[in-house]
Amino acid sequence: MRVSDPLSGRTIALCVTGSVAAYKAAILARILVRAGAKVLPVMTASGARFVGPVTLSGICGEPVASDMWDASFAGELHVSLAERADLVAIVPATADVLARLAQGRADDLVTALALCARCPVLAAPAMHPRMWGHPATQRNVADLAAQGRVVLVGPVEGEVASGEVGTGRMAEPEAIASAMAALFSPRDLSGMRVVVTAGPTLEDIDPVRFIGNRSSGKMGFAIAARAAARGADVTLVAGPVSLPSPAGVRRVDVRGAMSMRAALWEALGPDLSRADALVMAAAVADHRPANPSATKLKKGDEPSTLALVGNPDLLGEIGAARAGKRPVLVGFAVETGDQDALVAYGRRKLAEKRVDLVVANQASDSFDRDDNRATLVTEGPPEALPAIPKTRLADVVLDRVKALLRLQAH
Ligand code: CTP
Repeated sequence: MRVSDPLSGRTIALCVTGSVAAYKAAILARILVRAGAKVLPVMTASGARFVGPVTLSGICGEPVASDMWDASFAGELHVSLAERADLVAIVPATADVLARLAQGRADDLVTALALCARCPVLAAPAMHPRMWGHPATQRNVADLAAQGRVVLVGPVEGEVASGEVGTGRMAEPEAIASAMAALFSPRDLSGMRVVVTAGPTLEDIDPVRFIGNRSSGKMGFAIAARAAARGADVTLVAGPVSLPSPAGVRRVDVRGAMSMRAALWEALGPDLSRADALVMAAAVADHRPANPSATKLKKGDEPSTLALVGNPDLLGEIGAARAGKRPVLVGFAVETGDQDALVAYGRRKLAEKRVDLVVANQASDSFDRDDNRATLVTEGPPEALPAIPKTRLADVVLDRVKALLRLQAH
């Protein structure tokens, strides 16, 4: 079982340049350290004006390198860092740094390091949308793409420091970390088409009230992110969650079970031929209000009992419609009983929904957590996994999907 993080044991030179988004570099550093990476903080003089070097050295447990002219360092700092790093990440990358990278200049430690590095170089641009849209910046970005030496992550559309909205906002630290993990991941799922569902479904009572299941969406998003990082073609059907889209994933946002059903069949195709695997991590509500109101119900007008109708079992329908063994079907089961009950419920869902694998876990082991302790239930003996980060569990589930697809090919 592979449970190590692709970032674990990697040495990452994290270069912070002068943008308001520099504070997010500290969050990224924390994510990387927690994933087991060694982070070597590097800052430009202007980067150090936005976030304190002590913050970064405290998080990384390494001194901040910023001065190319530091005579107390024996040797050449940029060369030494370039040799130690498995990845140079410039987060945030200003318009000025992109311009200097495009030109191949080496007038500070960050650009000298990027020029010297033979490992991958990643940059997460952050700037005002007018600066990003300027022809000079776009030409620099095109030059960098043509050189093929720097992988850009973002920028994304959203609110920037000035309060204006547009493309120029730095990608979120989690998305940058997954893009980094992707650089270290085998592309062993390329050619595989995966549909993943995530999050809850919310069933409206009226425009301001709903019923729904508890789910942060973290597990499904982790599966989508890791599948894309490993080269799969991924469609993520997401219920209402507040999570950034993983890099390289086609995302379809839905609200209720009926809209999730429509999006699922669209992604899978009427004969299920558009996907090789479906991983159903969404917590689909089993019922919806029978008579949702188009206007807000006023106090006193609401019925004291809520009439409900059953939602279809989305995975069960797909299991019943599947003629052969494709797509591979994976369900989840969140339960509250003991381990024996967990396995028994998992087995029942495996048979009733006609799926290949059920990932079963206790509600208390997964809700609102970044890790999860799951038991894999198949026709064979159940396999209880230790508590591992959801990104790792995602890799384990995808390894199983890959093995099942390989079995069918023979
Ligand atoms: N599921 C689904 N459609 C539903 C309910 C659940 O596709 N209407 C899927 C979930 O996405 C999950 C699996 O079925 O992959 C099991 O979900 P769960 O809620 O645990 O199972 P239920 O069938 O609803 O059974 P119960 O609530 O009785 O445990």
